[in-house]
Amino acid sequence: MALCYQATPPFKLNSASTNWSSRTPLSLRCNLSVPSPKTLAVEPQPVFTSVRSFAPATVANLGPGFDFLGCAVDGLGDYVSLRVDPHVHPGEISISDITGVGNSSKKLSKNPLWNCAGIAAISVMKMLSIRSVGLSLSLEKGLPLGSGLGSSAASAAAAAVAVNEIFGGLLSVSDLVLAGLESESKVSGYHADNVAPAIMGGFVLIRSYDPLELMRLKFPSEKDLFFVLVNPEFEAPTKKMRAALPQEITMSHHVWNCSQAGALVASVLQGDLEGLGKALSSDKIVEPRRAPLIPGMEAVKKAAIGAGAFGCTISGAGPTAVAITDNEDKGREIGDRMVEAFMDVGKLKAVASVRKLDRLGARLVSSIPR
Ligand code: HSE
Repeated sequence: MALCYQATPPFKLNSASTNWSSRTPLSLRCNLSVPSPKTLAVEPQPVFTSVRSFAPATVANLGPGFDFLGCAVDGLGDYVSLRVDPHVHPGEISISDITGVGNSSKKLSKNPLWNCAGIAAISVMKMLSIRSVGLSLSLEKGLPLGSGLGSSAASAAAAAVAVNEIFGGLLSVSDLVLAGLESESKVSGYHADNVAPAIMGGFVLIRSYDPLELMRLKFPSEKDLFFVLVNPEFEAPTKKMRAALPQEITMSHHVWNCSQAGALVASVLQGDLEGLGKALSSDKIVEPRRAPLIPGMEAVKKAAIGAGAFGCTISGAGPTAVAITDNEDKGREIGDRMVEAFMDVGKLKAVASVRKLDRLGARLVSSIPR
């Protein structure tokens, strides 16, 4: 898929003035598969000796929004610690440490070219034209791999934000999403519905990939929205779950899913939880292909709705199931019923948690000035 940069990125992390290379007009830059990095004409110097960043878990697709809708959830995510390291070759990055849940430290490569955090970090370093400073990165995984909670995107988002911020935060949100997208395309597939909300927080609509156009969907701040996330002991690699999808769809399914995605966007903006839940449950294209690959998923969805959830679907590519409700206690009850269904029907152990919307997205949690 081709991807071009927009001349004017719609979102800025800060208002710092940016001195872009004039070799190629941004609006004309276009390339295949991965973004061609636009580069700063003048290399910035680090403003911090070290930073620590966090990026939240995300729920991609939200039912009918396959590859174009996602949101961030609070309290779960990955951390990146990044420091200027004179022992690392200038212009390069080294991954010193990977720690965290499950077997992530064994499964993830410390070679930055093969690690989602490393790929996003390198992409941001290229955009910033970093040639004279070496960096060391340490990754702390809070999210299990292949869980459907945007594990790879959280690592990429935290790394992209850490590198950008250590050099003064010159890049726009769109640039950071492009860096994350480069990482996602190598490790799980070409989709931004995890990495965009992981960076931006809240609900995000990817209106276009070519050029990248992102729309924040503001969920009213006064409304309560709880996500019930039920994660079974089962791995559903995104690549495999994407391979299960149909190559062609019928016109009636297209019309149905588009109308449901439209209703979902309207419900988010209006803070209409019933409407949101109804739309979340409505996918007729992707969920029917994936649910049978996750033992117990169909029963889990029924259990969630039976327990009073407004809606339920697969989170991202799965295997996590996500349901929504307006009350935390009710969320715990719904979670218990979903866990039981995973065990009774799917013979899978599962863990439930009840989370709110993360409205901030990836951010620095600490920094040491130079
Ligand atoms: N939209 C992607 C998919 C999200 O469903 O394959 C993966 O988390």
